[in-house]
Amino acid sequence: MQRSSPWLLLFLLSLFGSSECGISSQWDQCGCRWEEWEAWGTCDSECNGERRRSRKVWMYTNMPGCVFDFNTCATNDMGWDYSRCNAFCHNGGTSNSYSCSCVTGFYGDCCGFQVNCGNPGSITNGNLNGGTYTYGSTVTYTCKTGYLLVDGLSSRKCELNAIWSGTKPRCAYYNSCSSGPCKNGATCTNIPDDYQCACTNGWSGKNCDVDIQPPVLTNCSSDKYITTSKLTDLVEWQIPSFTDPHNFPIDVTANYLSNEFTFPWGDFNVSYSAVKPSNGLRTNCLFGISLRPNPCPPINVPANGALICNNWRTDYGQFCTFFCKDSYTVPRGVILDDFYVCGASGSWTPTNTIPDCSVMVTNLQSTAGYNIGPTYSSCSDNRREMQEFYIEKLSQSDFSYFCEKFQGECIPENVSVQC
Ligand SMILES: *[C@@H]1O[C@H](CO)[C@@H](O)[C@H](O)[C@H]1NC(C)=O
Ligand SMILES: *[C@@H]1O[C@H](CO)[C@@H](O)[C@H](O)[C@H]1NC(C)=O
Ligand SMILES: *[C@@H]1O[C@H](CO)[C@@H](O)[C@H](O)[C@H]1NC(C)=O
Repeated sequence: MQRSSPWLLLFLLSLFGSSECGISSQWDQCGCRWEEWEAWGTCDSECNGERRRSRKVWMYTNMPGCVFDFNTCATNDMGWDYSRCNAFCHNGGTSNSYSCSCVTGFYGDCCGFQVNCGNPGSITNGNLNGGTYTYGSTVTYTCKTGYLLVDGLSSRKCELNAIWSGTKPRCAYYNSCSSGPCKNGATCTNIPDDYQCACTNGWSGKNCDVDIQPPVLTNCSSDKYITTSKLTDLVEWQIPSFTDPHNFPIDVTANYLSNEFTFPWGDFNVSYSAVKPSNGLRTNCLFGISLRPNPCPPINVPANGALICNNWRTDYGQFCTFFCKDSYTVPRGVILDDFYVCGASGSWTPTNTIPDCSVMVTNLQSTAGYNIGPTYSSCSDNRREMQEFYIEKLSQSDFSYFCEKFQGECIPENVSVQC
């Protein structure tokens, strides 16, 4: 059929050109008719998109009132048709026709992207196992023989935030003991990048090569307390022994030339000192020797009298004298000796009994033949005088050395008075 020129094909002029909707009253009058819909356009999105198609309208333009304008036949929007397209989401996401809700681990408007943590990186002296780096994937690290995994986790997981869990581990050298760094029988334990030595006795330092062993002392004598009847006496002792388990030389010095010495009464220290020149460590053996005269038995307090003795150094010697109470004295013929002495022998001289003041001087016809010594009236009131008298008398006696030797102690306060 030959259509003449009055037919004109009107294209859509504008997408949103009209406010009205519908066929114009001039549809028939202008001979309007629709062309077939054209093919659908491309979808405007890879998912949940919209597409459109258009159609043309024919009309006569040579009829009165039929203006060359789409709206002469129909409203503009009738030239358009729309439909949804690509109504799906990638990777199992759920479409609600306008948007996608993605399966965990996927993202993007169409769930087209997968969370990927990327390569977590290799480690020196070890292996990274596992080749997928997407969400939920796990990689593991292993170290080669002689190395230990430290400072991180052996297994890491790709998390939703696209970051690997944990931190990257490191393969630390774990075989340092193989070079035998621990000396002198020490036990070696590997630790990462290092070793630890447990030293045997007497060794110290990181490698147990520092000798901290002092000389070992055995047979050091204990203190000796010796009594003797002589003024000096020979004392012997066991020589202590010093040894070194590490077999280094030891120098020993002593304050006595041999293991015996003739001591006077008194207190003495014997000392042995051993030093290892290799490390300067020293061990001492020190013990005391106390030499004393034999102990004396107690001596009696005379009846009606006062016994006056030294109260210092009584273990070296006892020097006693006595006073009779006023108007008492000892029996005729009894010698009133200056001092009763007990020394090294362990027994008293001149006798081991002090005579009693058994004689009342007031009852006597005559004091001839009686030895009237110093007297006192009250043991407590005259105590000080008796003490002073004693010191003076001792200082002038044959035993004055006992005052000279222990000067500080030879004082009245240190004189005992017993009544
Ligand atoms: C210690 O003394 C005892 C007894 O005299 C002796 O048998 C021993 O060998 C001495 N020890 C040392 C290490 O000299
Ligand atoms: C003996 O040694 C001890 C302890 O070192 C000391 O207190 C004492 O005064 C010494 N004695 C003598 C008599 O040297
Ligand atoms: C008496 O002698 C002893 C030692 O025998 C001494 O310790 C003491 O201080 C002396 N007493 C006085 C009062 O000096």
